[in-house]
Amino acid sequence: MQIIDVNVSKPYKVFVGENLIENTANMIEDICNYKNVVIITDDIVETLYLDTLKKSFPQDKNIFSFTVKNGEQAKCADNLFAIWSFLAENHITRSDLIVALGGGVVGDLTGFIASTYLRGVKYLQIPTTLLSQVDSSVGGKTAINIPQGKNLVGSFYQPIAVICDINTLSTLSDKIFSDGMGEVIKYGCIYDKNLFELIKDIDDKNVLEKIITRCISIKAEVVCQDEFDTGLRMILNFGHTIGHAVEKYHNFTDYTHGQAVAIGMIHITKLSEKFNTTPIGTSDKIKALCEKCNLPTECDVPNDVLFDVCCVDKKNLNNVINLILLKDIGECYIQKLNHSEFKDFLNL
Ligand SMILES: NC(=O)c1ccc[n+]([C@@H]2O[C@H](COP(=O)([O-])OP(=O)(O)OC[C@H]3O[C@@H](n4cnc5c(N)ncnc54)[C@H](O)[C@@H]3O)[C@@H](O)[C@H]2O)c1
Repeated sequence: MQIIDVNVSKPYKVFVGENLIENTANMIEDICNYKNVVIITDDIVETLYLDTLKKSFPQDKNIFSFTVKNGEQAKCADNLFAIWSFLAENHITRSDLIVALGGGVVGDLTGFIASTYLRGVKYLQIPTTLLSQVDSSVGGKTAINIPQGKNLVGSFYQPIAVICDINTLSTLSDKIFSDGMGEVIKYGCIYDKNLFELIKDIDDKNVLEKIITRCISIKAEVVCQDEFDTGLRMILNFGHTIGHAVEKYHNFTDYTHGQAVAIGMIHITKLSEKFNTTPIGTSDKIKALCEKCNLPTECDVPNDVLFDVCCVDKKNLNNVINLILLKDIGECYIQKLNHSEFKDFLNL
């Protein structure tokens, strides 16, 4: 088992390894005291891992569970009210522990519930998708969606620990696994050339554990320097500006987030090669790795449409677009461009 320290304002550990869910109670024994446990999960993960998790707790604990329907729609206000009410009806207090068992959807929803109910109850993340293990469960961002947009309501609230049981990844569909690979490749591109090289061997379980551990360490390093997302954390958005435009152009239906990020990473790198800011051939290396991981690689969105969509992105401040570009594989920087410079960058 690997352990990564996340040294934010309220430090915690991330555990990565096999057969961890069945040992959950032992693993958090020295981390926190709690009376009752409330597990929040979705209907798919419930059938796969809920019983194992429940059995890991001592018999004198009351274990409650609340199951939402799987999918992005679960991050909604209706579920907030339903779960807050469930907690109140079962007399859950700040002496109890809330556990998120599932992918990023369950993690984001549970984190927001835990940060708001009684102004904050301890919570544990047990992420069960590749994306949630390498990305969403670490860093303390919680959120729900409202009709006006994704992740518009949320909080920064760190878990007491994160338990990444890599055995859970064996039940993921190929599509959901490769969706997470978009973010894995991103970490290699922005931070670690050796990680980038290692990714081609991900089918080996030992390598998989190594890769997940390294991705989490990178996320932890970045988050520790910018817990509240005011600067450096932006580098984690490599490929996301164009990726988001691709998702939007396709009405959030044709591509998953990770697929769109793959397209975004390749396209932005191609553009920055033309702009002479990235060595020629870098985008081809990313493309080859994305192809190996069954991710799409071609951007079918015209550059003028990309310009329009990127310029209205809620992340832009004072008409400045922050692009994350590569100096090389494993090294990135933030390039600020005003609208006219961004037009030049897009060759418009
Ligand atoms: N908080 C953050 O920092 C952060 C970062 C990135 C993404 N996110 C959020 O994460 C969410 C996406 O997360 P996701 O990709 O994990 O999606 P998800 O939670 O919807 O999971 C994808 C699907 O996989 C199923 N599933 C989960 N674990 C499984 C397993 N072990 N075996 C079989 N099926 C399993 C789920 O039931 C679901 O149908 C988005 O809402 C996004 O906004 C948050």
